[in-house]
Amino acid sequence: MKPGKAVALILLALAVATAGYGLILVRRGFSALATPSAIEEFAATTARKIAVPSTSRQLRNPIMPTTENIRRGMEHFSYHCAPCHSNDGGGQTSWGKGLYPKPPDLRAAGTQNKSDGELYYTIQNGVRLSGMPAFSEEHTAEQSWRLVLFIRHLPQITPEELSQMKGWDQNSKADPAHF
Ligand code: HEC
Repeated sequence: MKPGKAVALILLALAVATAGYGLILVRRGFSALATPSAIEEFAATTARKIAVPSTSRQLRNPIMPTTENIRRGMEHFSYHCAPCHSNDGGGQTSWGKGLYPKPPDLRAAGTQNKSDGELYYTIQNGVRLSGMPAFSEEHTAEQSWRLVLFIRHLPQITPEELSQMKGWDQNSKADPAHF
């Protein structure tokens, strides 16, 4: 077989496979309750990784991880982020479970292995084609950096801190301007 013909056959096979996969995806329905397939997850995470500029990735957190700063991040997270991500960062809320893609477990390696700059960039800019909103118009830079501090604290969060957070969520009477 001539090389040109072999390439054409491979391209044809790829086109048929892609169309077939697309058909399977569409036939599966559009419910956001489903879990994204491994291929979709790989494509989305790779695209996101490439999209974060390296200057942002290298940014260091200018806010010191003091008890006070972590606590302020915690209050803020509880009000603005917990409806989707839950106070413990696991994302097991009715909003979280109903999103496609779902919020990842912020305590797990997938998030914790990202740089501070990458987490900050995600909070400021959100993630396109997902439920993750951009907060740069609503937050000061300090507030977003304190949220990064709090995300780093999540793997060690205590039951006492979690019960405190319940008083700060959107159903409580707390004043959001304070956060
Ligand atoms: C309306 C739901 C919603 C709210 C509110 C929300 N998020 Fe998210 N968040 C998501 C979803 C969905 C993703 C996953 C996006 C994806 O798969 O690319 C996400 C992803 C993230 C990530 C990326 C994690 C990773 O491993 O890459 C960070 C960090 C994050 N959110 C922080 C926050 C913070 C901080 C707040 C509050 C200021 C917040 N989110 C509010 C839905 C939400």
